[in-house]
Amino acid sequence: MADQLIIFDTTLRDGEQSPGASMTRDEKLRIARQLERLKVDVIEAGFAASSNGDFEAVRAIAQAVKNSTVCSLARANDRDISRAAEALQGGARTRIHIFLATSALHMEKKLRMTPEQVYEQARLSVRFARNLAGDIEFSPEDGYRSDPDFLCRVLEAVITEGATTINVPDTVGYAIPELYGEFIANLRRRIPNSDKAVWSVHCHNDLGMAVANSLAGVKIGGARQVECTINGLGERAGNTSLEEIVMAVKTRKDYFGLDVGVDTAQIVPASRLVSQTTGFVVQPNKAVVGANAFAHASGIHQDGVLKARDTYEIMRAEDVGWSANKIVLGKLSGRNAFKQRLNELGIELESEAEVNQAFARFKELADRKSDIFDEDILALVMEGAAET
Ligand code: KIV
Ligand code: ZN
Repeated sequence: MADQLIIFDTTLRDGEQSPGASMTRDEKLRIARQLERLKVDVIEAGFAASSNGDFEAVRAIAQAVKNSTVCSLARANDRDISRAAEALQGGARTRIHIFLATSALHMEKKLRMTPEQVYEQARLSVRFARNLAGDIEFSPEDGYRSDPDFLCRVLEAVITEGATTINVPDTVGYAIPELYGEFIANLRRRIPNSDKAVWSVHCHNDLGMAVANSLAGVKIGGARQVECTINGLGERAGNTSLEEIVMAVKTRKDYFGLDVGVDTAQIVPASRLVSQTTGFVVQPNKAVVGANAFAHASGIHQDGVLKARDTYEIMRAEDVGWSANKIVLGKLSGRNAFKQRLNELGIELESEAEVNQAFARFKELADRKSDIFDEDILALVMEGAAET
């Protein structure tokens, strides 16, 4: 049996960190229910200690969601961890996600702590959380820019204290796919108890490589959890996009050899809900969920797709929640696509000569007008009928 890739959705936590994407408790709850329908393995519902509103949102989601693990973020201190545990109390499956920065830059300039202090705080925070929860994730923030020797020490210690998932964030989107994959493989090789934890990737998109880096973390590094968001929402340039990760692993199962539990038919509904809730428009050429992701405009492509869809489609639009693929009529379209649209509109022309005339009028129109609607086609057919 193939290994399972755990899909950890952080739309409601890291996604919400997008400037302008703040969500109310009820909006978060609605999205969490859709994430559960999508069958993601883990929903990071928020950061319980950050505000009363987020505490309430985490609490409501933990009560409502039964089939996905519900997680709250917490800094590595007793108060944050206790707040997370309190918000998650009574949930069917819950996780506390603790983070503490480990890069020299963050420790010195942001935390103003020595590496020894960070090491101790990481260890003791996981020990504290272990008394409150069985499922604990630890993230060394800015992990990818951390000194590997120091990181190995910290991660070995938190696994010994009971962390069950180790997440290696590329917090500032600085990684390159091969290097990030090797970074994780190296940590797993060097840390003696590394096999006691599930390894996870968390990549930001500052250089547009979040998805590629995450996939390299899986393929080269051996990670078995990917942290991602719907539509790639997230701090600055965003996070790894869930829809791209899921469809890459499914479409290229020949390469990754992994199973994903997500119900892909719920991807487009999830994308729409997140876009409507946050007001963040999805770009038309966005992979999988963009309006043009399954639209064909070139005549040669349209002809190919009408003969056999897999000539120009590596996934089915219907499999990710679209009602169908799209043949967009325009100046590049060929006669075959035009004839197909006439059929769909229920227009039967008497002879091939009439089809040719209507097609010629369509081409003239398409040179003047970029969007050709069904009404335009009906009008030009009627115009032709009136002339004869
Ligand atoms: O990007 C990051 O480092 C994070 C951590 C809190 C996991 O979001
Ligand atoms: Zn992040």
